[in-house]
Parts: sequence; structure tokens; C-alpha cells
Amino acid sequence: MKVTVIGSGYVGLVTGACFSEMGNDVWCIDIDEKKIENLKKGILPIYEPGLEDIVKRNYADGRLKFSTKIKDGLENSLFVFIAVGTPPDEDGSADLQHVQNVARDIGKNMEKYVVVVNKSTVPVGTGDKVFAVIREELEKRGRTELEYDVVSNPEFLKEGAAIEDFMRPDRIIIGTNNVRTAELMKELYAPFVRNGHPTYVMDIHSAELTKYAANAMLATRISFMNELARLCEVTGADIEQIREGIGSDSRIGMPFLSAGLGYGGSCFPKDVKALIQTSKEFGLEAKILMSVEDINKNQRSRYVDKVLKHYNNDVKDKVFAVWGLAFKPQTDDMREAPSIDIINKLREKGAKFRAHDPVAMDVAKGIFGNKGIDYIDNYYDTLKGADALFLITEWNQFRRPDYEKMKSLLKTPVVFDGRNQYDIKKMTELGFIYYCIGRS
Ligand SMILES: NC(=O)c1ccc[n+]([C@@H]2O[C@H](COP(=O)([O-])OP(=O)(O)OC[C@H]3O[C@@H](n4cnc5c(N)ncnc54)[C@H](O)[C@@H]3O)[C@@H](O)[C@H]2O)c1
Repeated sequence: MKVTVIGSGYVGLVTGACFSEMGNDVWCIDIDEKKIENLKKGILPIYEPGLEDIVKRNYADGRLKFSTKIKDGLENSLFVFIAVGTPPDEDGSADLQHVQNVARDIGKNMEKYVVVVNKSTVPVGTGDKVFAVIREELEKRGRTELEYDVVSNPEFLKEGAAIEDFMRPDRIIIGTNNVRTAELMKELYAPFVRNGHPTYVMDIHSAELTKYAANAMLATRISFMNELARLCEVTGADIEQIREGIGSDSRIGMPFLSAGLGYGGSCFPKDVKALIQTSKEFGLEAKILMSVEDINKNQRSRYVDKVLKHYNNDVKDKVFAVWGLAFKPQTDDMREAPSIDIINKLREKGAKFRAHDPVAMDVAKGIFGNKGIDYIDNYYDTLKGADALFLITEWNQFRRPDYEKMKSLLKTPVVFDGRNQYDIKKMTELGFIYYCIGRS
């Protein structure tokens, strides 16, 4: 089938690449000329395991094409996916300017029937707006005879496992009231649900809200565990044991029950905010979500407070090794990463950093610059002469390190583990001063 994906970021590029991998003809469009030029040369804008190979192979085979011109895609495609960013506006609501720009471009350039598929995460009612904007442009052109449909098809991929998630999704959500369009969408996705996972066709508003509901639920689980972790710290209980104790309950399950530095990334923070704001717009108060957000913010300050308390509020010229900068392992995405708040707050107080991340160091340089922070290629080298280690992102290689080596390299054996990766007993026996989350 013929597909155009507008926006070639984390979601758009993965979507385009995976559709082409299944034999479809795909145009990936982006307004960022450099990004498109690089993609044509096989240089990817993001790190995502397995993506580079799929992009290069399908580009070489001619099934995947790149352009900055929406017309190139529209001329050939039945499906036009919108996969542009929906960052938070000042009040926390989703900023829809990119989505609306794309809708406008579609209206200006379409010459035949298209199914416009909204894959960006957008507030309930956006599908109607997209429909209206396209209509407006067609009216301006005097081309109201051109037909189109607008479908909501939220994306649930996880960065770091995006290819696997897209190729074998838990479910496909199709929001449309048009039976014929639903059938077309099902046909497009059929190769991806051969594993028997369901495709749900629902009304467009429910589909739009389903995406927010999913992210808000996952964020809620994380904040719930972080709230409990605080209680553990004052009562002497252990959040890790509680996690096992409740996660083994089939009604609860294990995922997203880890206490730590809270959620970050490009989705949970903005989607929780946007859902709070949507509720407000409809005269409702999203009380649970307001607390979820509040707990999440505080989790980072609590970590900083632990560090400050250890050093009697004086971290001037202290040197901290940092393991992990990305908001989670397996990605170079640093949007809303806990490392940003933690490093910046302590840098303001004169602390210095020796940081390592397996893939996010280039992105990190753009965020932190060089003042008070050195970027070190080997993670053990960050420890040389450092006053303490901060474990911020739980990349696999940091999970079972050589403790003796860590101890010998650190100036003082102090570890602030933001992800509960190490065994308390072992760390204490080895002589580390070990801080973690919700475990005494
Ligand atoms: N990143 C994720 O894990 C994830 C998962 C599920 C859903 N989403 C949602 O998907 C959407 C996209 O997220 P992302 O992380 O891929 O964003 P991104 O910032 O990585 O990519 C967006 C891309 O759109 C391009 N763009 C902006 N305006 C454009 C226009 N008018 N025409 C063509 N291209 C344009 C930008 O240049 C950029 O390359 C968001 O709504 C997000 O909430 C993201």
C-alpha cells in the first residue's frame, strides 16, 4: 500500500521504516532539510536499536523515500500519517501548531482521496479540528469535491524498543466512524497483528483519549511507587520487596512499579500535563494526575536533597561521576530527563561532573554545554578522583559493575543510586556509603 508519514522524528521515522519493511511504498516527509539530507545519506537523527538497518535497507530497495515536500508524498499515497511533535504549551496543554500546519499543507496540496491518520498524541477533539482545517484550505482552492477522512491511530511504541513495539504491537487502535476507512486501516496493519493481538475500532474521541489514558495510567503507577518509597524510608520498609509482593498479584503486574527518579521523556510529562489541562477546559479537576505530576517533580529534588544533606549543604568543587544521562536506557532522548534537573541544581551550587552515557552524550552536550561538566568515554573513568557516583539511568552495563574497581577509583566510596540497582548488604559490606530510593 502507499503511505506518507509527515514528521520524521522518533515516531514518524519508526512508522515509515516499519511500514516499508512490510513491503509498503513509503514517503517520509520532514520540514527539517538537514534531517532529510542526512537520512538520504543513511545518517539517522536519533538512536533507536535496529532502526538504522531497516532505514538503510528499505531506502536502498526504493521502498522508503525521503523529502521535504509534502506534495511528493501526497501525489502517491492513500494514507497520510501525521507524526509531528505536540509539545506542551505554556499552560501545559498540547501545542497543536505543528499538527495544524500539516493539516493546512494537506489541504493545500491534496489532489485525490486520502486517509489522514493522526498518530501524534493529541487532545480529544483534535481530529475534528484537523478535518476542519483541511476543509478550509480546500474551500480556498475551490476544490471541495475532494474527499478525505481523518482517523485517530495513536502510537504506543516505547523508545528503546520502538521497532519491536511497532512490528508486534499489543494492540492497534483505530478511531473512526467510517466503516470503509476502518477496513482500509485494518488492511494496512494486518501484517503487524498476525500474532493475534487485537485491533480495536472505536470512535475518534475515544481513540484520542485512550492514548492519554494509557500514559497517565503508567505515570500514575510510577508516582504511586515513589510515594510509597517515601513511606518506606521513614518506616524502615523496603520498596523493592513491596514491588515484588504486589507485582506478583495478577491483578497488578510488575511493569512500571519501580521506584526511582520518576518518569521523564517526551511523552509522560507532557501527556499528564495535557490531560490535566483538557480536564480543566471541561470544568473538571484531574486530582489524581495533579498529584502524580507533583510527586514526580519532587522525586528529583528529593535526590538532590539527599546529596546536599550528605555534604552539609556544601557541594562547591565536589566532583560527581554520573552514569547515565538519557531519560531511560536504550535511547539518546534527553527530553525531561531527571539528569537535567539534578545536574543543573547541583551545578548552580558549584558541583562539577564527570558524566558518561552510552549513546546520549552528544545530545547532552547540547543541553549542558561544557561548564562544570566533562564527558567521559569510559564509564569507569568517570570515577577517577570523584567524590561520589550518581547512578541516574539504569543502562544494562551499570547493573552489575566491578564494585572493587569502583571503590578503588572513587576518591570516597559514596554512591547515590537513583534506580535501586545495587544490593544494599553487598554495598555496605564493601564499605560503600550507599543511598538509594525507598530502601533503608
Ligand atoms: N517519542 C515517543 O516515544 C512517542 C511515542 C508515542 C507517541 N508519541 C507522539 O508522537 C508525536 C511525535 O513525537 P516524536 O517524539 O516523534 O517527535 P519528534 O520531535 O522526534 O519529531 C517530530 C518531527 O516532526 C517534524 N515536523 C514538525 N513540523 C512539521 C511539518 N509542518 N511538516 C513536516 N515535519 C514537521 C520535526 O522537524 C520533527 O522531525 C508526539 O505527539 C508524541 O507525543 C511519541
